[in-house]
Amino acid sequence: MGAGIAQVAARAGFDVVMRDVGPEFLERGLNSIDKSLQRDVDKERLKADEKNAIIARIKTTTDIGGLIDAFIVVEAVTEKLDVKTEVFQTLDEVIRRDAILASNTSSISITKLAAVTRRPANVIGMHFMNPVPVMKLVEIIRGAATSDETYERTRALTEKLGKIPLECQDSPGFISNRVLMPMINEAIFALYEGVATRESIDGIMKLGMNHPMGPLALADFIGLDVCLAIMNVLHDGFGDSKYRACPLLKRYVDAGWLGKKTGRGFYEY
Ligand code: 3HC
Repeated sequence: MGAGIAQVAARAGFDVVMRDVGPEFLERGLNSIDKSLQRDVDKERLKADEKNAIIARIKTTTDIGGLIDAFIVVEAVTEKLDVKTEVFQTLDEVIRRDAILASNTSSISITKLAAVTRRPANVIGMHFMNPVPVMKLVEIIRGAATSDETYERTRALTEKLGKIPLECQDSPGFISNRVLMPMINEAIFALYEGVATRESIDGIMKLGMNHPMGPLALADFIGLDVCLAIMNVLHDGFGDSKYRACPLLKRYVDAGWLGKKTGRGFYEY
């Protein structure tokens, strides 16, 4: 998702630094940006020279020091608390004191991430949706210590990115995944129990509810490891058994069938 966020920011006219741990990940990110912008060139919604100018606004680096001048850093690393904590501590030391530290986490507590920094008032959740260039929403999450100024700056930036900010408090799964993920998990239970085939489950939700994708296809699209991590956050956070992850979801993740990104999930790619 980091690449999608970089693309949207560069398209809105910002100079962007995209940082990852290895050059191969940066190359993959730039390729996906190229492909995504090319769709708009092909549909004559973007000129080829505009596309080149957008890409030219994105600098890439593996050095975290490359973010030193940023007025906002949007973290989009893997959905694991220990990894995010380490990244937040490092960023807090490296970036400007007045910079905002935003997390694109899908469910990890913003309050917890803020607490490992010396700038909890400047920490906020900026939850983009996949595919980032297409989806209008950015869910803005206020941690316990997030200041009104940080919220206002983040809200204004989101609008400049051409997105719609909608606010919520820090609570497990926020709103988006508290509502979406139990639906996906329930669809997986229905498959597990043999209530219907994957095609039938997805077809019923697409045709009957006008969802653009069925829940099983959407789970593959999001990543089954991400879905499992979110269910675990809901389960731990609320202590309510209604959020227990379906054993079939766990089994697929154990097998390394993580969805589209690994070529196999509930469907084959
Ligand atoms: N970059 C740029 N444009 C893209 C794109 C990309 N990566 N992917 C799709 N598009 C554009 C296409 O160009 C097309 O544009 P047009 O209609 O203006 O010509 C439009 O999106 C529709 O694409 P397609 O015709 O190729 O395919 P679909 O009609 O099947 O749409 C979809 C694809 C937009 C992904 C649609 O299926 C959809 O909206 N799915 C649901 C997505 C969703 O629910 N996302 C949220 C996931 S939850 C999340 O992210 C939170 C996290 O915490 C888990």
